[in-house]
Amino acid sequence: MTTHWWRHAAIYQIYVRSFADGDGDGTGDLAGVRSRLAYLRELGVDALWFTPWYTSPMADGGYDVADYRDIDPRFGTLADAERLITEAHGHGLRVLIDLVPNHCSDQHAWFRAALAAGPGSPERERFWFAPGRGADGGLPPNDWTSYFGGSAWTRVTEADGSAGPWYLHMFAPEQPDLNWEHPEVRAEFEDVLRFWLDRGVDGFRIDVAHGLAKKPGLPDVGADPDVTDLPYQDCDAVHGIYRSWRKILDTYDGERTFVGEVWLPTPEQSARYLRPDELHSAFNFEFLCCAWDADALRRVVEETLAGLAPVGAPATWVLSNHDTIRHVTRYGREDTSFDMGDKRLLDPSDPVLGRRRARAAALLTLSLPGGVYVYQGDELGLPEVQDLPDELLQDPTYVRSGGADRGRDGCRVPLPWSGFGTSLGFSPDGAAPSWLPQPVSWSGLTAQAQQDDPESVLNLYRTALALRRARLVPLPETLTWVDAGPGTVCFDRQDGFRCLLNASSAAVGLPDGARVLLASGPLPGGTVPPDTTVWLSL
Ligand code: NOJ
Repeated sequence: MTTHWWRHAAIYQIYVRSFADGDGDGTGDLAGVRSRLAYLRELGVDALWFTPWYTSPMADGGYDVADYRDIDPRFGTLADAERLITEAHGHGLRVLIDLVPNHCSDQHAWFRAALAAGPGSPERERFWFAPGRGADGGLPPNDWTSYFGGSAWTRVTEADGSAGPWYLHMFAPEQPDLNWEHPEVRAEFEDVLRFWLDRGVDGFRIDVAHGLAKKPGLPDVGADPDVTDLPYQDCDAVHGIYRSWRKILDTYDGERTFVGEVWLPTPEQSARYLRPDELHSAFNFEFLCCAWDADALRRVVEETLAGLAPVGAPATWVLSNHDTIRHVTRYGREDTSFDMGDKRLLDPSDPVLGRRRARAAALLTLSLPGGVYVYQGDELGLPEVQDLPDELLQDPTYVRSGGADRGRDGCRVPLPWSGFGTSLGFSPDGAAPSWLPQPVSWSGLTAQAQQDDPESVLNLYRTALALRRARLVPLPETLTWVDAGPGTVCFDRQDGFRCLLNASSAAVGLPDGARVLLASGPLPGGTVPPDTTVWLSL
């Protein structure tokens, strides 16, 4: 029976090195995940998305892959991954893995061979090598800048010590971009897909899905670029890649799926990736970036649903991930929006306000039609860690921006599981210190501390996910807006279900006769106070 599970799944994102450490080296691993599968099942999610677990020098937290067919030794072995997939399935959890096709690691066999083989070699054609500009080729081949800051090009020093051509890296220099015009690149990734599909994975999250194809000739961006027509993203050839992948995926049973990391300026551009013969869904970054403002939130929901309707793809709703400021912190700031470019600073945040809004946002997110992503720690109400010492910061964005951007380490701090010890149950007793330290205050936020507290964020998520599965998942993927007054977001799903978010600064009354199914906070005197969401049965 076809269930279309991916249209409405609750998917939990596991940032492997910060989830749970099984072997005591201070870094999360697959053994740690296996020991926590019962927790994830009880949380009530449908699937797990693992950030890259492949062999990697970790220049970008594993998004620099040296071997797409093996597991990094810090995380375990290929046999561990196979066991994990089987055991997750045994718990009723599907498994999505991260595929990183735009670039590999500079330690990947292909790139090492390319450097060794020298200028003009066939090995270099799998990447973007190009001569520099200027008299001695000392300037980069074009004006593209890396997403992590600085030029997107690095000059090669050849084996004989001479200055060679440049190679393209849209991210760190340790992440050379692959040339997707090369048939061997296409064949390789088709094989990698099959490798993991044969091992039972239920699908792939595709990194930088909009970026694989480049505009022929790699033209300059120019001084005043049209952001909808950049030469390094959303080039038409990318769609042919996904069509060929989809054909492969569809030869496997079990409703396997693709979710794309598609960050593009317009919903129309994004929707093209979700045509019926391409990817199944994409992350909703407009929702993630949206300020805590009722009108703005409603507008994003409307635009999302309208944008996807022509291609028939389901929406997804995302509040945080391993690249963004945790939303507890974001929602406690004066400026509650997020922008990948300029918001990872040390702006002050009110933790009480942030957590109240985060709880309200969770119920909004979990009641909208479509799929939903929970980033590890969302369910514990974790804030961003803003005071990591400079010398511990590992994210390449920190160094490449010259410290102007604090980077993404603050949302990647290891999870607090239990107790009061040094790693709060992240590692076994007596283990090495965890790769990033947790704040002492997190002892009150551990999964254990929240387990039996009916008011905890953990229990809010558990109850909401269970209710969602029972009441909302079976419903058609539509909603009807309701006017509940200024500063509110209110809609009905079918079957008498209503969601009401009060994002205004005054309390709002409950509709007559409505029964409260769940509330993100107290409802004093039968009213919905500011920054609170209720689920109602009418
Ligand atoms: C998006 C990933 O989410 C991010 O963590 C990574 O740095 C870039 N892609 C490059 O792979």
